[in-house]
Amino acid sequence: MSDFDLTGKTILVTGATSGIGLAICRAVQRMGGGVVATGRDRERLDEVGRGLTAERFRSLAADLVEPASRDAMAAELPKLDGIVHGAGALALSPSGFLSASKLRALEAINYEAPVLLTSTLVKSGTLKPGGSVVFITSIAGLFGAKGHILYSGSKGALAAAGRSLAIELASKRIRVNSLAPGMVRSGMAGEAAGKLGDEAMAAHEREYPLGFGSAEDVAGPAVFLVSDAAKWITGTTLVCDGGFTAR
Ligand SMILES: NC(=O)c1ccc[n+]([C@@H]2O[C@H](COP(=O)([O-])OP(=O)(O)OC[C@H]3O[C@@H](n4cnc5c(N)ncnc54)[C@H](OP(=O)(O)O)[C@@H]3O)[C@@H](O)[C@H]2O)c1
Repeated sequence: MSDFDLTGKTILVTGATSGIGLAICRAVQRMGGGVVATGRDRERLDEVGRGLTAERFRSLAADLVEPASRDAMAAELPKLDGIVHGAGALALSPSGFLSASKLRALEAINYEAPVLLTSTLVKSGTLKPGGSVVFITSIAGLFGAKGHILYSGSKGALAAAGRSLAIELASKRIRVNSLAPGMVRSGMAGEAAGKLGDEAMAAHEREYPLGFGSAEDVAGPAVFLVSDAAKWITGTTLVCDGGFTAR
């Protein structure tokens, strides 16, 4: 069996009902692994399950920003070999239009939820020693962009927390890494396109040497990070952006 193989492993994927999270669920199963998928919408979770192998699929609905809902979901989980935190949201707003409520709402899903859920699952022993945690952050957490203050802050904070978690959890051989995608054609990119307009998006894509990515382009690196092939990688950010930040 190759170190890239996930046979016998169970991976929790948040944000599994759409875009990158959904592609990661499919990729985990292609590599032989089992998936526990979570999102808020029960019907969308059932739809995800219909496209996957039933014996290696479970789903649990939860709103990750609601502590009671998040904890109830955590209590139902089987032992895990990995967690991919895909759930997230985008908020674009110039500096003059920021508000405490917008900031808190974005931090709640992009930063608090993945950090607190990881803490709960480590404390309860649900995440096995030797497990792997992957935070889906963004290149916006590494580089500045107009209108991205709240989003950049939430993703940069998550990557920074991941580095400290990696150091703390190394004694349990639990690895913690971030995966920072550039622009990926998904629900969230559609939201950005709606704000920027088609012409601006086309101009933006020309800045990507390999063009915009697909959700599947992010799923492969996520699978790598949860696999044993990455067993000496912790506390880092893997950039996955078609060369955008190499320019
Ligand atoms: N798309 C891009 O270009 C891009 C680039 C860089 C980074 N990212 C990051 O990649 C991740 C996935 O992005 P995407 O484009 O695939 O997004 P997406 O299609 O909008 O999906 C977001 C997912 O998050 C879940 N979610 C949102 N709020 C939630 C909550 N309160 N509780 C539980 N689940 C919640 C949604 O599930 P329900 O609605 O079913 O609850 C959905 O499955 C995000 O963290 C995003 O920041 C995306």
